[in-house]
Amino acid sequence: PVDDNPEGNGAAVGNEGDVDGEKLVLTMGTEAGFEPFEYKEGDNYLGIDIELAQAIADKLNMELQISDMAFDTLLDALNADMVDFVAAGMSIDPEREQQVDFTVPYFNASQAVVIRAADAANYTDVTALEGKKIAVQAGTTGNDLADLVKDADVSAFTAYSEAISALENGSVDAVIMDNFPASSFAAGNEALQVITGWYEEEQYAMAIKKGNTELHDMVMAAFDEMIADGTAA
Ligand code: ARG
Repeated sequence: PVDDNPEGNGAAVGNEGDVDGEKLVLTMGTEAGFEPFEYKEGDNYLGIDIELAQAIADKLNMELQISDMAFDTLLDALNADMVDFVAAGMSIDPEREQQVDFTVPYFNASQAVVIRAADAANYTDVTALEGKKIAVQAGTTGNDLADLVKDADVSAFTAYSEAISALENGSVDAVIMDNFPASSFAAGNEALQVITGWYEEEQYAMAIKKGNTELHDMVMAAFDEMIADGTAA
């Protein structure tokens, strides 16, 4: 990587060299259909990951840019240097750890199952999913879990909103997705119900390209400061 930081402090981050005014740009890859972690209101990106990433960029004196793309393309984009890091409510998992480096975990979550409230009596335990039509977001840990369900017919969508629409219109029976975004979709929607407690805990972390130890160290240091000052848990 070329060190193109005008301040000359040696911060060569990734391979991209965009300079905006004085500040180097730090590009976050995400999929912004995942409230409360990343979502859009008009042209603005909001959510916990956005706030954490902004706090990191501020500590590094860099300008945060957001690149919104399909979840299942994020790690390829990272490894192709199209983004500097990924913050997308992404769960640490062994397969991903082969491809990228993760930061410290910053959030505990788990996969939940969203169903139509009218069907609730049929969903007493996880075996109720067997043979069902299950919608997921492509490339997620929920997708992996759905693929393991016996005789299930799995539809992988780009956006969780499409998976939820498929549930509402009856073309699928259930959506496997992360617990907090599941609650966001179900909030104020009497027709939907969220089931939790069927799947193991997962931990969210940000992902950085393997070998980009400089950015990894900088982000980890920013996390340490945020943990110390209470910005991050
Ligand atoms: N936690 C799940 C995973 O890592 C889903 C993350 C989806 N994130 C998103 N921004 N759409 O696979």
